[in-house]
Amino acid sequence: MTPAEVSAARAVDPQDFDIERVRADFPILQQEVNGRPLVYLDNAATTQKPASVIEALERYYYLDNANVHRGVHELSERATIAFEAAREKVRGFLHADDAREIVFVRGTTEAINLVAQSYGRANINHGDEILVTEMEHHSNIVPWQMLCEQTGAVLKVVPINERGEMIAKQFEKLLTERTKILAMTHVSNALGTINPVKSMIHRAHDVGAVVLVDGAQAVAHIQVDVRDLDCDFYAFSGHKLYGPTGIGVLYAKQNILDAMPPYQGGGEMIEHVTFEKTTYNILPYKFEAGTPNIAGAIGLGASIDYLRTMGLGAISAHERSVLRYAMQRAQEIEGLRVIGTAELKCSILSFVVDGTHPADFGTILDQLGIAIRTGHHCAMPVMQHFALPGTARASIGMYNTREEIDEFINGIVRAKSMLI
Ligand code: ALA
Repeated sequence: MTPAEVSAARAVDPQDFDIERVRADFPILQQEVNGRPLVYLDNAATTQKPASVIEALERYYYLDNANVHRGVHELSERATIAFEAAREKVRGFLHADDAREIVFVRGTTEAINLVAQSYGRANINHGDEILVTEMEHHSNIVPWQMLCEQTGAVLKVVPINERGEMIAKQFEKLLTERTKILAMTHVSNALGTINPVKSMIHRAHDVGAVVLVDGAQAVAHIQVDVRDLDCDFYAFSGHKLYGPTGIGVLYAKQNILDAMPPYQGGGEMIEHVTFEKTTYNILPYKFEAGTPNIAGAIGLGASIDYLRTMGLGAISAHERSVLRYAMQRAQEIEGLRVIGTAELKCSILSFVVDGTHPADFGTILDQLGIAIRTGHHCAMPVMQHFALPGTARASIGMYNTREEIDEFINGIVRAKSMLI
């Protein structure tokens, strides 16, 4: 790009997004790493936390810490109110009908394992088919492989094309009356591809399959409406939504959750226990055995509050503009190949450079204060598809700027000159 093109591209930055204010809200961004201002481009791995989330965690531990739903004392009452308020915030965030459809779990991985082991073990039989796409994260492959081993079901895979998009014709071919579960990612963590989940859900329902959407890489970038999508299950992790680690959400339609057996046994999930028989609690507690991550849920609620003040529409527009700029600038580098060029994509710029190993870019960029991820990104089948050992991946969050992309591009150029 010429300097004129660079400033023209900058000019399309959405006006209604106060990036300086956003950046000021994230204390961690105000530091230098290896003597350079931190450029954090590893948001697909985990996002940074605004001060309001950190303060919500602090407030809980300083003032309100107690177990939920159990005590009769003031602190327990406060903790319970804050915990259930967080559930209600998640309900609103996903546009779910009812807070009983929101189960707190550790993260996306646990949510998918819960569905595979509870819904799957109860409903999947020998010869049934479970359909995934070739771009899934291991978390949306391995639980289904385990279920197939346990039940004799068969895992089918919708292939992707060279842009990293699911091949629609193959999806139509592989989706049959034998398909009982369609499990797919909303956004690919390795490629950034946004899947046409709504139409896929519709098609899957036509053949009687239930649908799980892995929303780990979507919720921070795309407004999700589970009622509009009509998905049966939707899973995401708090730490990729500017919230704490160790907390995540499984959304499921109430009638489906009601019919599912518990996933784990223990405290909170029971109604009545005798040695002869145990009856189970109402939704969603039937699926929340043991003391939950109370602080995590409260922190997640605070991150949702924060996102609301920014507006996901404005965040998406800003990120799209930064990603477009990054994709354009990446093309300037000779020998650089972007992996994942889907027409509909968000946040992710995965790349390789001829004659180099992706891991070397991670190490050299780190010396320049730039954080990216390299490797297979827990999506080995994607790497196998492109016959690569891995990629270097920059993933954009709401606080990233075009100036940071310039730093990143300069860093790649410098790394390349050192490596070749
Ligand atoms: N799944 C996360 C990533 O893509 C950890 O980096």
